[in-house]
Amino acid sequence: MPQKTVPFTVSQLESIAQRWPTPFHLYDERGIRENARRLNRAFAWNRGFRNYFAVKACPNPFLLKLLAGEGFGADCSSMAELVMSERVGLTGSAIMFTSNDTPAEEFVKARAMGAVINLDDLSHVAFLDRLAGIPEQVCCRYNPGPLKGGNAIIGKPEEAKYGFTRLQLFEGYRQLRDRGAKRFGLHTMVASNELNPQYFVDTACLLFDLAVDLSRELGITFEFINLGGGIGIPYRPEQQAVDLERVGAGIRAAYQERLIGRGHPELAINMECGRMVTGPYGYLVSRVRHLKETYKKYAGLDACMANLMRPALYGAYHHITVIGRENAPLDTVYDVTGSLCENNDKFAIDRPLPTLAVGDWVVIHDAGAHGHAMGFQYNGKLRSAELLLREDGSVIEIRRAETMDDYFATLDFAAAAAFPV
Ligand SMILES: Cc1ncc(COP(=O)(O)O)c(C=O)c1O
Repeated sequence: MPQKTVPFTVSQLESIAQRWPTPFHLYDERGIRENARRLNRAFAWNRGFRNYFAVKACPNPFLLKLLAGEGFGADCSSMAELVMSERVGLTGSAIMFTSNDTPAEEFVKARAMGAVINLDDLSHVAFLDRLAGIPEQVCCRYNPGPLKGGNAIIGKPEEAKYGFTRLQLFEGYRQLRDRGAKRFGLHTMVASNELNPQYFVDTACLLFDLAVDLSRELGITFEFINLGGGIGIPYRPEQQAVDLERVGAGIRAAYQERLIGRGHPELAINMECGRMVTGPYGYLVSRVRHLKETYKKYAGLDACMANLMRPALYGAYHHITVIGRENAPLDTVYDVTGSLCENNDKFAIDRPLPTLAVGDWVVIHDAGAHGHAMGFQYNGKLRSAELLLREDGSVIEIRRAETMDDYFATLDFAAAAAFPV
């Protein structure tokens, strides 16, 4: 079976832990950069190709800046994500604002930043116009409903809350055109964690055909088509990463045939991938705190689901490597747990691992997206530090660990002491 590897050694971890106690998230700069370049290369044929990194996957200014250096923009869906992007110097067309059930102030902020606004609903045309005016460039999110199968994580498109129906899109672009918009984009996002390369080619075909129909009907042309995110990652060692070259080549052929071949001018292909950009290059580093044996064997880590909740939330598989023991036989079966008072605080159930000892280094793979980002403080668990392993082997802190003071920052103990009961 193929092995999942890590770009660091036990002795590196020991020296990192002298300064930053476990647990911590460690991101691999080289891996992130090389992967970003692979994605760009797969679409090098398209003038204007850009991936807008889905900030929600791993909202950290160091990583946003690193990715901006690779030509990525930022896909934002909240005020905090807009502000974070702005604070690292990303504004204007480097931002795609793809939101839903959008608060007024977020539209106003996105408009002020000159972000590309991607509308989620027909009623948002008039809403945006009233609030901030219709920008010259604007985009709408298509929900193909029964015309496209979804996948397990995102569900069926017709049951998803996002986007316009096909009919609504015609009306939406008509209204936008009549209210002064001149430059148009078209967007969809129908899959999450999808590993089948053909899925993305099929999505592109759907959008190319739709763009041609819309432009013929309304006399508009599109400047970009945004295929959304959703490229999956091989969480399991036996899974294959998506062949990006194949995706790029398949979309290129469809672009020539369905768009250019039918008279639509050249346009830019955009994406909003998050998971595949940082996911495989982030590791949750932890140590075995206690070993327990009752009806099952438990390995209790110093990390818990507050650091990575995907296994508890979705039953998601995350591979686990015991660093320094990579070649040891997997001769003991454990539930790998955290210390949160929730029985589903388990990183793995019935996982064969080398026989563990207290203090062993346990690394949980593919934690670079929706890992720290989905962290929470329930049960008084504090979010851990985020560290970046630089290409030269050095390590820098890109987010400090929370302290008890952070946890208590929104409480007023003096007012509580004076509270008459
Ligand atoms: C609108 C939108 N764009 C992009 C993404 C990123 O998707 P992924 O991280 O699966 O590439 C998401 C989902 O998180 C999303 O909701």
